[in-house]
Amino acid sequence: MPDHLLFCRAMKSVFLYLLCILFIAACATPPDPETKPLGENVLSKEAIHAAKTGPVDFVVHVKPVLEAKCVMCHNRKALKGHMSLENRTQAMRSGALGAYIVPGHPEKSLLVANTASTHQNVSVMPAVGERLTKDEYAILTKWVKEGASWPSGASGMLEIIR
Ligand code: HEC
Repeated sequence: MPDHLLFCRAMKSVFLYLLCILFIAACATPPDPETKPLGENVLSKEAIHAAKTGPVDFVVHVKPVLEAKCVMCHNRKALKGHMSLENRTQAMRSGALGAYIVPGHPEKSLLVANTASTHQNVSVMPAVGERLTKDEYAILTKWVKEGASWPSGASGMLEIIR
């Protein structure tokens, strides 16, 4: 058989081989990000109950969740040009995709929308690891609905643990 024909055959098998690998890789990639597992509650049972039955308190019910699950990425140093949750002023800004927090309107707030599901091409948040628990999502939504009060002093500053 002429050399160039042998070469063609070899290339054909390499091509088929690569195609198989691609196919397997596509099947092995995790399905929809919305099927990511739910995480563990950061808040105690008592705190969750209080937040669900009474007014949500930013410092007691929201800050610990954002500190444990969001702010390590969502600060100006780690994620330039994206939402920063370091303090009230930063969090109340708008980004390219819209407003992060619209007090009174969880449905218009990316902070809520992007933790529920893939939204505006942004994968479900947190970007890595487990999703917010149902309780955390409910409390975050309720907090925004109640006006998203976030103190501007030291108690409103989130600690960034890297
Ligand atoms: C591991 C890092 C990481 C963590 C943790 C994380 N995010 Fe994100 N987040 C990102 C990245 C990266 C983007 C940009 C995604 C894109 O462009 O597709 C993003 C985008 C977003 C956006 C869209 C607005 C923007 O900044 O562009 C929102 C809102 C958001 N995240 C909310 C949250 C919330 C709420 C949490 C905590 C529950 C969280 N994220 C946790 C990395 C993270």
